[in-house]
Amino acid sequence: MNRISTSMGHSSTTMNYAARNETPVTNGLKSMPTSSIERYNRHLVAVRERFDANAALNALRSNNDPQLLELFLLYFCAIGAQMTQPVAGWIRRAASRCAALGFEALAKALNQHAQAESGHHLMMIADVHSLAKHWNARHSRSIAADALLSQAPSDGARSYCEVHERNIAGYTPFAQIAIEYEIEQLPLRYGSLFLARSFEVFGPEILPSLSFVSAHIELDVGHTHFNERELAKLIDSTPESLPALVAAGTAALDAYAKFLSDCVALAQRHYNEITSSCDRPTQFLSSSRLRIRSWHRQHSAFITRPLSKSVTTASILAIKR
Ligand SMILES: [Fe+2]
Repeated sequence: MNRISTSMGHSSTTMNYAARNETPVTNGLKSMPTSSIERYNRHLVAVRERFDANAALNALRSNNDPQLLELFLLYFCAIGAQMTQPVAGWIRRAASRCAALGFEALAKALNQHAQAESGHHLMMIADVHSLAKHWNARHSRSIAADALLSQAPSDGARSYCEVHERNIAGYTPFAQIAIEYEIEQLPLRYGSLFLARSFEVFGPEILPSLSFVSAHIELDVGHTHFNERELAKLIDSTPESLPALVAAGTAALDAYAKFLSDCVALAQRHYNEITSSCDRPTQFLSSSRLRIRSWHRQHSAFITRPLSKSVTTASILAIKR
């Protein structure tokens, strides 16, 4: 018998609707049955819109300062490595707690998925070293990759870890699948923005330093299908799990948005320290900028095209190879 916590802080209307697994009734006529994943997604619409409007993504979309952008990427990869290292362990521990609570099918699926997530933090660590090398070749104030990697986790990173730990330790370890579903969609939604903006500002030379994002734009297509299938199966078999799934997916996205904002704030602080001590780009940067401007003129049609996932990402990945 599956045990579900019913004290997730949701309104009784939401809880009762989910628990009864009702089909909405409109104008006295029963509408078409809504799939379980549609019912979950409906609860996440506003949360995903809030994520999309967060200040960090807007800065990434509009800020053209190469130093700020590169510092952002450095902090994103360094703190991101801390948040990615525990992922396979979280999934395995969630699987083990799911098995203990009677969610055997999900436990088996999560255990299989854990293997696919193992060691991905190493890509982010490699990216930090590569970005630091890229930076150090062009600036007099150098950056130590190891110092960035060993910094204290930001508030957002800490919240992100707490969301996982809280669900694993409590009666909602199955909510790991909702967390995975939300987080693994991010490379599909925003990976092309990261790559295209970096490509636009630095040229193709930056792409080898963004291996984690590049790889996950492709890897997480399959992972998202897997998460969606398992999430739907769970809601179908245990409809009363929906509020906890929505709560976990929401908390994970909000924590990740905070992490992105932390990276912007850290990049801005680093940038202010550099500019206040009159760090000037080296001659290499000046010539590099000239090369980028010339590259921009040649590829302006591509750059000004809207960020279409299918075209832009494929084009960038093709250039990377
Ligand atoms: Fe993944």
